[in-house]
Amino acid sequence: MSDIRFDGQVVIVTGAGGGLGRSHALEFARRGAKVVVNDLGGSVDGTGGSSAAADAVVAEITAAGGEAIADGASVTDDAGVANLVKRTMDKWGRIDVLIANAGILRDKSFSKMELADFEAVMSVHLMGTVKPLKAIWEIMKAQNYGRVVVTTSSTGLYGNFGQANYGAAKLALVGLMNTMKIEGGKNDIRFNAICPVAATRMTEALMPPQVLERLGPEHVTPGVVYLASKDGPNGAILTAGAGVFSIARIYETDGLYLPTATAEQVRDSWDKIGDPAGQEAYPAGHGQTQKLMRKLSGS
Ligand code: NAI
Repeated sequence: MSDIRFDGQVVIVTGAGGGLGRSHALEFARRGAKVVVNDLGGSVDGTGGSSAAADAVVAEITAAGGEAIADGASVTDDAGVANLVKRTMDKWGRIDVLIANAGILRDKSFSKMELADFEAVMSVHLMGTVKPLKAIWEIMKAQNYGRVVVTTSSTGLYGNFGQANYGAAKLALVGLMNTMKIEGGKNDIRFNAICPVAATRMTEALMPPQVLERLGPEHVTPGVVYLASKDGPNGAILTAGAGVFSIARIYETDGLYLPTATAEQVRDSWDKIGDPAGQEAYPAGHGQTQKLMRKLSGS
């Protein structure tokens, strides 16, 4: 099979001034893409900012013979996002790929978490994905081509102490994908999620050095590149870290028809309701309704 290339394509990577985003940006450029390196350049909790981080990654790309421009907008800033998209269109005239990667942390147990910490994290991860997506969507539709990769997390999929805000925001991105993978269908716009594990400034305090040294961001990037490629999948959640790749899915059990159920019957049937035999991952919400109808008709 041929190599995956992005010649003639324009790729926007948000939060690409360091960590995973930098690794993605470098690899897209190496594979022929023109890359917009967006990064606010703030600290892990989202405060501060400068375009120096994005500038440095652009310098790396151009030094290696690639093409890139730096953008210091916050993905939560409407005017900044509009300007990012306008600059990209003025320079290169199309946008093929959006890698929504920018992110922050405000970890605290829910008791100690201020609503402002919750809102800041929801804003950067969820609205900081939605705003660039909204600004680019009609462009991708008009091109009849687009690839979008959002960045979810094991915290969103499964939970983690002290990350209620982050987990809520990260699973919201899977919810966004589940509908956008359908809405993009007729214009060949595909939508996927990466669920990374990588040693970056975000995780450096959380894991021992011998674990971190196995977790370079460059082990995640091949998964992102495939998800964003012409022949990539649609609606996948790809987990990636240290060279290990897997697919995460949401399954629903076949369940049990209890026509006159009482709360006690639900309690007493709990194991049967949850029996994994015959469970399915539905391609869309109507899969669940069809299952209900099938159970009602006794099949
Ligand atoms: P990082 O802190 O190195 O990268 C995040 C980048 O986003 C930073 O360069 C930061 O300046 C930028 N950013 C933050 N707010 C921004 C805003 N409003 N506008 C534009 N840029 C902004 O951390 P890392 O690990 O590379 O994170 C990248 C993504 O991967 C994040 O979405 C994170 O939640 C996600 N993730 C990372 C995991 C890991 O193991 N490192 C695990 C699961 C998810």
